[in-house]
Amino acid sequence: MRALVIGGTRFLGYHIVKRLLQEGVEVTLFNRGRTPDEFGDQIKRVRGDRKDYKKFFETFRRERFDVVIDVIGYDPEDIEVALKTFRDHVGQYIFISTGQVYLVTRDQRQPSREEDYYRPLMECPPGEEKAYEYGVKKRACEDLLEEAFRAYKFPSVRFRCPIIHGPRDYTLRLYSYLIRILDGHPLIIPEGGDSIIRHVYVQDVVNAIMNVLEVEHTRGKVYNLASEEVLRLSEFLELAARMLEKSLTLYQIPTKIMLEHGVTPEISPFSGQWVSYLDPALAMEEIKFKPTPVREWLREVVHWYIDDYQGPEPENYRQRRQEIALAEFWKRLKKLE
Ligand SMILES: NC(=O)c1ccc[n+]([C@@H]2O[C@H](COP(=O)([O-])OP(=O)(O)OC[C@H]3O[C@@H](n4cnc5c(N)ncnc54)[C@H](OP(=O)(O)O)[C@@H]3O)[C@@H](O)[C@H]2O)c1
Repeated sequence: MRALVIGGTRFLGYHIVKRLLQEGVEVTLFNRGRTPDEFGDQIKRVRGDRKDYKKFFETFRRERFDVVIDVIGYDPEDIEVALKTFRDHVGQYIFISTGQVYLVTRDQRQPSREEDYYRPLMECPPGEEKAYEYGVKKRACEDLLEEAFRAYKFPSVRFRCPIIHGPRDYTLRLYSYLIRILDGHPLIIPEGGDSIIRHVYVQDVVNAIMNVLEVEHTRGKVYNLASEEVLRLSEFLELAARMLEKSLTLYQIPTKIMLEHGVTPEISPFSGQWVSYLDPALAMEEIKFKPTPVREWLREVVHWYIDDYQGPEPENYRQRRQEIALAEFWKRLKKLE
């Protein structure tokens, strides 16, 4: 099997490529070559910027792939060009989407199911332009793929992912909590931010992709991927603390008071309105999606951060001094402990 992976060297894409190679797939990677990769001569590399649409088209127009995995489609123009380029030249086109496609709609149902996509868009909440635009653009990408399937059976499969966890996760969202648990001081989350955690493990996303390769009945379809268990953030953090053999003190403090003390809600990346909560039932039923238990993957990721991660601290950790002072203030105010 010949596969083209667009992206493929940072986090999710890296894990996809690794698995494809293990499965004996012949892999071509397309990216700008800024992120070094460790695949040596196991892969073929094509260098380029996908935003150079003319060149992208010229590079791939005469190529034929059994599967194209588009890990980094963010703009509808990316997909317009991909459709032009790969029409009649690809066995299957896999598109990585996001649960945020639901979060930009009105009257959301949670957990979201695939059909909840077809709801009118909500207005962009003030100050949330970036997150809103991300969801709206991913929808525009998905709409084009759906249309192309309807019009000429363009063979795409879309996967909607919530927050993805795994080794190499460069977003450092999970690490934002771990590093605080490790320093032994209390952890603060915004009041009302004890959100539901139903994220997804990176290897489960990879498994789902493997399960649809060359499977005809999945063409034109879209699947939510997520863990089966539903935890509160506080429970999830308790679990992480136990894995770190640390105790956890968690304060939920109104955002207004946090801000008065120079602490922003970014310190709790899993709170807030942009964390999707998806129902993976359809994928479990149709493509044998079997999510790994949270305890198993969390242990792996926690240990990766402790044993292997060598990058910088999360940016939000710069607020730690103010957080510790706020936690002291809160403890006195509430006469806690
Ligand atoms: N992380 C999450 O929690 C989460 C949740 C839901 C959905 N997703 C989705 O997961 C995908 C992102 O995965 P990832 O970042 O882990 O992917 P990845 O494929 O592992 O890494 C990004 C790749 O894109 C390449 N790249 C970036 N800009 C490029 C350009 N203009 N032209 C060509 N190559 C380019 C980078 O290499 P160079 O820099 O060398 O070009 C790198 O190989 C997105 O579709 C996102 O919406 C992520």
